[in-house]
Amino acid sequence: MLLNVNELLISLSKTLDFAEREVLPTHSNHGMRVAYISARIAQKTGFSDHDLFDLISYALLHDNGVMASIRNARDGKQVPGTNLQSAPLINSADGFSMVEASPGHCVEGEKNLAHFPFIQRKDNVILYHHERYDGSGFFGISGNNIPLYSRIIHLADSMAIWYSNGMGTDMITDAIIRNAHVFDPDLCEAALELSSNVEFWLDQKELFVQSALVAMLPQVSREFDYKQIRTISQMFSRIIDAKSPFTGSHSRGISDKTGFVCQYYEYDEKTYWKMRIAADLHDLGKLIVPGPILDKPGKLCRDEFRVIQSHPYYTRRILEKIDGFEDITEWASNHHEKLNGSGYPYGFDSRTLDFNSRILACVDIYQALTEDRPYRKAMEHRQAIDIMTDMARHGLIEASVTEDMDSIFCGVVE
Ligand SMILES: [Fe+2]
Ligand SMILES: [Fe+2]
Ligand SMILES: [Fe+2]
Repeated sequence: MLLNVNELLISLSKTLDFAEREVLPTHSNHGMRVAYISARIAQKTGFSDHDLFDLISYALLHDNGVMASIRNARDGKQVPGTNLQSAPLINSADGFSMVEASPGHCVEGEKNLAHFPFIQRKDNVILYHHERYDGSGFFGISGNNIPLYSRIIHLADSMAIWYSNGMGTDMITDAIIRNAHVFDPDLCEAALELSSNVEFWLDQKELFVQSALVAMLPQVSREFDYKQIRTISQMFSRIIDAKSPFTGSHSRGISDKTGFVCQYYEYDEKTYWKMRIAADLHDLGKLIVPGPILDKPGKLCRDEFRVIQSHPYYTRRILEKIDGFEDITEWASNHHEKLNGSGYPYGFDSRTLDFNSRILACVDIYQALTEDRPYRKAMEHRQAIDIMTDMARHGLIEASVTEDMDSIFCGVVE
């Protein structure tokens, strides 16, 4: 299919912006704003459309390691490759979160993008996006030894954070001048010039930043097949899995098992990969659900349960914006619907739910039952299938898929 990767990333990265808001409540649209400011600075310094395109991808994903960094902090792990402890979950007085002020999210973010085939730069843009021009950053790299894209993102990131902290135009201009030693001087000059434009700051408003960014996207569409697009969804599935300590490999497990089920049904290659993408992204909306509710031990009150129930709705609202994702949207966001209409969030029933939506719903239940949870151990195959058979008997899930999953996974999942 013909795809503009930037457009796809804007849709998906919105979930990262929501996730980051949990750490920095004032910062909505952070990735989008950093991408927009980066692109404007780059334009002033004469970037080609092709380079601009890559820069926007990187900028949208620059903080993709935040979830994994939070997970490491939660687990008491050190930042990989350093002797530093991962960032604690508190905000510092100047409004920069400790997560942003720790190299953990740079290391994890770089790692997560390592298998991302759409942007080819190999100079560790994400790893070095907090390096300072004077060498006082996390890894002590200075001047033009810092990759150009990282220098741009660092300046844009600082401007976006100052803006979101409520600083006005003059204060931000002062802050750039005061901190000039940590930024590339040429980029500083471009940023100061931009700062004097009224429209530049109006474009930062919550209401406009996305459309301002979309308006300046280079129109670079390329032909991709779903197998290639799957590398993007896989990257997001790792971020989703990093969010919850209890379901750390849930999306990966579902995607693998969905693959086996599709092979069993001898699906053509295109449908096979679309199903894998849907499985990767089925819980995408969980990035928008607040972590303390998602991970709350014990019983949830009605309102909290409603918040949890919103996640497949968010999945739908994000995926439905992507051209070519029509089927994927259906299959992914119907995974908590039930054939008798008792599911959520829409209450769809057997008249609406197609076979592939039924497969994902079954695989989701099977995966959940065979995973450890804080309140119970993982169930064995037989016990999980018995529960699902009972659900099928009561008209909740597809009986034939349950039966087929029994034969596919019997002896494979213990
Ligand atoms: Fe960052
Ligand atoms: Fe950032
Ligand atoms: Fe779910």
